Amino acid sequence: MPNNSQPLPSRRVFASLLTAGAGMAALAACTPEDAAPSPVAANAAGEAPSLPTPSSVGTPSAAASEPAPVESAPSATPSNTAPSHAVAQQHSLTDPTSPWVVVNKHRPLVPQDFVPADLVQPGVRLAVSGEAALLNSTTATAAEKMFGAAATEGVIMTLASGYRSYSTQVATYNGYVASTGQAAADRASARPGHSEHQTGWSFDIGDGAGACSFQPCFAEQPAAIWAKANAHKFGFVVRYPWMFHDTTGYFYESWHLRYIGVEAATDMTARGIATLEEYFGLEAAPDYF
Ligand code: DAL
Ligand code: ZN
Repeated sequence: MPNNSQPLPSRRVFASLLTAGAGMAALAACTPEDAAPSPVAANAAGEAPSLPTPSSVGTPSAAASEPAPVESAPSATPSNTAPSHAVAQQHSLTDPTSPWVVVNKHRPLVPQDFVPADLVQPGVRLAVSGEAALLNSTTATAAEKMFGAAATEGVIMTLASGYRSYSTQVATYNGYVASTGQAAADRASARPGHSEHQTGWSFDIGDGAGACSFQPCFAEQPAAIWAKANAHKFGFVVRYPWMFHDTTGYFYESWHLRYIGVEAATDMTARGIATLEEYFGLEAAPDYF
């Protein structure tokens, strides 16, 4: 049965505030720390949550494609403990073929060399080729719908990085380490066997104009703004939100979307829940064990 326990007020307000403060987050990410405003208003969007009902290959060059984001120091730290939004488990949280698989610094892929059996190239605008242009079939279909809907509203987005094999992630991560050092690399790039990109459930978007790709200022581009407001309608969440690195292990990535299904993504959004760790009642994973 779903867990209907409510979050602590302070936690709820903070999560809602962060959700509402995306624009300010983006500004903060691209402006000097002292100039960045602090979020000042909360909303009650998370009230009266409705729980899910039961239902049912050119690869990116690591150092060049995802430079480590610059993030302002948070004015408050989200709680790392006692997730209070646990939901009824409809899908496995560990099987990499499950739309609810949670992969983070505490939860490596099993098997670590997992390869999705249903990789396909979605019919969307591509900024990459080869394996990076692939997604699992469910994610590809959802991406096609989302990209199409964005386009009808005048927002062009591109698929900037999709599937990454284990061996590609080795090169990607090692590239970060070589260029930024291990500590910074670990805030921007998953170690091999720990990346959502290897599941086929995640991808990075670019803007039609190609501006700010993989950079903090991408959050201000039309594609990112549109995705933040609408991605849940197509089953996606922004997996690494601003100021939740103590939970997710990664700095804000306004470009990284993760498919979890329309019902769950919409529920997360309505309830102001920012991370999969909290939504699924899992521990925070700021660092590797
Ligand atoms: N940039 C994300 C965390 C990854 O490497 O999967
Ligand atoms: Zn990504």
